[in-house]
Amino acid sequence: MRKVLRIMGLLLAVVVVAAVGFVVFVSARGIPSYDVPKPTGMPLIEATPARLAQGEKLVLSSCADCHLNRQTNRLAGHRLLDTPPEFGGLYSANITQDKEHGIGAWTDAELVTLLRTGVGRDGRFRIVMPSFVHMSDEDVSSLVAFLRSGHEWVRPDPTPSHEQEPSLLAKALVNTVMKPTPLPAGPVVAPAPTEAVAFGRYLVVGRYKCYDCHSKDFKTNNSLEPEQSEGYMGGGNKLLNLQGQEVYSRNLTFDAETGIGDWTEAQFAQAVKYGMTPRGPLAYPMPKYSQMDDEEVHALFVYLQTLPKISNATAEDGGAVAAR
Ligand code: HEC
Ligand code: HEC
Repeated sequence: MRKVLRIMGLLLAVVVVAAVGFVVFVSARGIPSYDVPKPTGMPLIEATPARLAQGEKLVLSSCADCHLNRQTNRLAGHRLLDTPPEFGGLYSANITQDKEHGIGAWTDAELVTLLRTGVGRDGRFRIVMPSFVHMSDEDVSSLVAFLRSGHEWVRPDPTPSHEQEPSLLAKALVNTVMKPTPLPAGPVVAPAPTEAVAFGRYLVVGRYKCYDCHSKDFKTNNSLEPEQSEGYMGGGNKLLNLQGQEVYSRNLTFDAETGIGDWTEAQFAQAVKYGMTPRGPLAYPMPKYSQMDDEEVHALFVYLQTLPKISNATAEDGGAVAAR
């Protein structure tokens, strides 16, 4: 008996030492750095009018909410009010063309690496910044072309990017589960809009990453194989608005009771583009995809119908359904 107790005591001591060691390691290491992956076979990105227009559309829907400073009307970054307070103080970066404080001195390849993997030119992992693993090369090029353009959002702004103030929890996560994503092994090409289902999937996992917010939880999302994310497109991800209040993402599968199975395509278009639903307006952080074209809306609507229906009631379904 005494021997058993001694062994258990020893084991406990080992566990405590390991835990303390982990905490010390994590707080000293902070946000980790990696070797900077280099995209191969990437020609210099040419700024065609089509790319500039596409880049503006994508930045408006997918980057501005985090990077645009509404006072200066520049993508100069700011404190993110909608990240969980237990992660510490998190700030988006200055991505204007300022050479010292923005991305003016970054090469196209460095920008592509950051957008695809989350690793910056200095090797530091950028936390919170979504990585666009499945975005097509053409869309990524459009983003880079826009960042280099004459648009007023990207004109040089000398505001320094704020350093991150991650909590111990955030540091523990970036040293364990949150990792950069790898660069794609080959070219990434978007399906043609006429292939509605394939194109709709591309919009959900690649171009707009709807699945990121609309699956169960960021922590169980699978960025390499999005469909493997828990509750893929079934909603219920606990997000925050700018006042720090909880806003749950909604079920976008075609379950008639708790999803959007009883919606028409016209209703869906209103919701996605203007945030208007049959049950009232949609709140932040649901983006307004006001520049989305009819082909995109149609493809999304068609693709969502092909997904397994998930029964997951969120607040908008009303007390009776939600309580079931
Ligand atoms: C959810 C909020 C969020 C969204 C959406 C977002 N970003 Fe970021 N971005 C961040 C944060 C946070 C950082 C990292 C700041 C840091 O760690 O220094 C960052 C960093 C960057 C950087 C690196 C700049 C630097 O100096 O470190 C670039 C470039 C960038 N973002 C571009 C974009 C583009 C382009 C989009 C849209 C396709 C986008 N971001 C969408 C939050 C976001
Ligand atoms: C940044 C997170 C985020 C992203 C990205 C996002 N959504 Fe949402 N979406 C939300 C939230 C949160 C709500 C609920 C808002 C509310 O409660 O007012 C919502 C609500 C909706 C609704 C209303 C559903 C209902 O039952 O009322 C639709 C439709 C929708 N989103 C479609 C999309 C599509 C399509 C995309 C991609 C093109 C997308 N969303 C991307 C967060 C997001």
